[in-house]
Parts: sequence; structure tokens; C-alpha cells
Amino acid sequence: MSGTVFAAVLEGCGSSKVITGTFDHSNLAVPSNVFQENNGKFKKYVVVSHPQLKYPVCVYRFSDIEYSALLMRCTHQGAELQVFGDRLECPAHGSQFSDKGQVKNGPADTNLRTFPVTIQNNQLLISLK
Ligand code: FES
Repeated sequence: MSGTVFAAVLEGCGSSKVITGTFDHSNLAVPSNVFQENNGKFKKYVVVSHPQLKYPVCVYRFSDIEYSALLMRCTHQGAELQVFGDRLECPAHGSQFSDKGQVKNGPADTNLRTFPVTIQNNQLLISLK
């Protein structure tokens, strides 16, 4: 019950982009409606966390059927990335990555780890295999 209250508080302060996924075999599952906003628009991304994940996964939505899921672990030295709109930035040494996980600025020189996303029964399944 307290979890529900917490979610409501987060929504109120505009930080509702971080959600907790559920595990379904080796998939991290989130309802596809988490991208929907009250005004009929869609969020550009959500950050999905789970107690079993060391790093959260940032999921970008490009269309109803097109998503990218990126591990928020910097490929330079492993710091957790932060999301700024359509890019991710590393607070440690400033590397930047695109919304598809490509390196835009070093010192990192490797793209982010990405996971395939499929849609089933109004759920996004992020394959962590
Ligand atoms: S750990 Fe991210 S830029 Fe160094």
C-alpha cells in the first residue's frame, strides 16, 4: 500500500519517469501504457529499475512499435548514466550517448548495451538474456 502512495507522490512532483518493472522469465516487463501522459501525449522515455538489476534500463519510445532499451551503465568505467531528454550523460567523466545507445562523446568509445524489446498483451518485454 505504501508503494502506491509513493508512486502518487512521485507523479505529483513530475518524476514519474522512473518505474519498477517485473520479471517474467528472462524478460523485464513494463505495461506499454506507462508512456501515456494524461494529455494524450507520450513520454519520450521511462527509466525501468528492479531490485535485481544493478543498473536501470532506459527505454525510449519512438512509435507504438519502435523502442530502444539501453543499460544505463557507462561503457567507460561503469558509472550509472543520467538521462537528459534524448541523450544519456555520464556524471563521472562526461561521456554522452544517443537515445539508441551510440557514443556521441568520449572518453567512452563503445556503444551502450542494448536489449531487444517486444510487445505482447500491452506489455513491453525487455529481453535481458
Ligand atoms: S565512467 Fe563514464 S565517462 Fe568515465
